[in-house]
Amino acid sequence: MRKRRALLIGILLVLVGLVFAWDFSRGQNNGSSSSSQTQTSTNSGNGTTSKAKKRAGKILVVYFSRRQGVYNGPLKVGNTKRVADFIQKATGADEYEIVPKKKYPRSYDRTTEVAQEEQENNARPAIKNKLPNVAKYDTIFIGAPIWWSEYPMVVRTFLDKEQKDLANKTLVPFTTHQGSGLGNTEEQLKSQFPKAKVLSGFSVTGDDAAKAEPSVNRWLKRIGVK
Ligand SMILES: Cc1cc2nc3c(=O)[nH]c(=O)nc-3n(C[C@H](O)[C@H](O)[C@H](O)COP(=O)(O)O)c2cc1C
Repeated sequence: MRKRRALLIGILLVLVGLVFAWDFSRGQNNGSSSSSQTQTSTNSGNGTTSKAKKRAGKILVVYFSRRQGVYNGPLKVGNTKRVADFIQKATGADEYEIVPKKKYPRSYDRTTEVAQEEQENNARPAIKNKLPNVAKYDTIFIGAPIWWSEYPMVVRTFLDKEQKDLANKTLVPFTTHQGSGLGNTEEQLKSQFPKAKVLSGFSVTGDDAAKAEPSVNRWLKRIGVK
C-alpha cells in the first residue's frame, strides 16, 4: 500500500516537472519570437525611410530670399532661406540660391512697387550667379517669398532658363508669406511643367519661419521625401 502511494507521488512529481519544463520552454520561445518581431519592425521602419529617400533620388533645394523683412529688416537670415535650410538639413540636399543681378531696394514699399512693375511687364530679371546643373537631380524644391500672390519674377527667370531640365522632374513648391500661403506657385509649376510631378507644397508666414523646422519635417514625411 505504502509502495503504491510512493509510486503515485513519484509519477505525479514527474508529470508536474514535465508541465513546468514545457511551459518554461514555451515562455523562452515567445520571448525570442517577440524580440524578432521588434527587430523586423525596426528594419521595416528603416526600409520605409530609405525607400522614401530612394524615391526622391538626388535632391536640390532652389530658393530666393530678399532678407529685408517687411518693416523689420534687414533680417539676419531671410525667411525663405530658413525654410530652405530646414529642407536641406532633413534631406541632405544640395542648395542653390537665386541671386538677382540687380538688388531690390532696401525699402519694403519701394520693393513692392518694383515687384508690381516686373509682374505687370511679365519681366524676367537677370540672375547674377551661375545656374546649377538641374539635369543631375530627381527632385527639385523651389522656394520663394510670395510677391503679389506669385513667385517673384526672378524665380520665373530661373524656371524659364531651366524649362527643359525641369520638365520631367519631381517639383515641390514652398513659400513664406504674410497671408497668401502658397499663392499660385503650385499652379505655376503645374502649368509650366505639365509632364513634371508636382508634390503638395509647404508655406509658413515669414514671422513663423524660424520655428518651422518640426512642421517642415512633418510635411517632408507626408510627401514621402524624408
Ligand atoms: C514685393 C513684395 C510683395 C509681397 N507680396 C505679398 C503677397 O502678395 N502676399 C503675402 O502674403 N505676402 C507678401 N509679401 C510678404 C513676403 O512674402 C514675406 O514677408 C516673406 O516672408 C519674405 O521672405 P524673405 O525674407 O525670404 O524675402 C510681399 C513682400 C514683398 C517684399
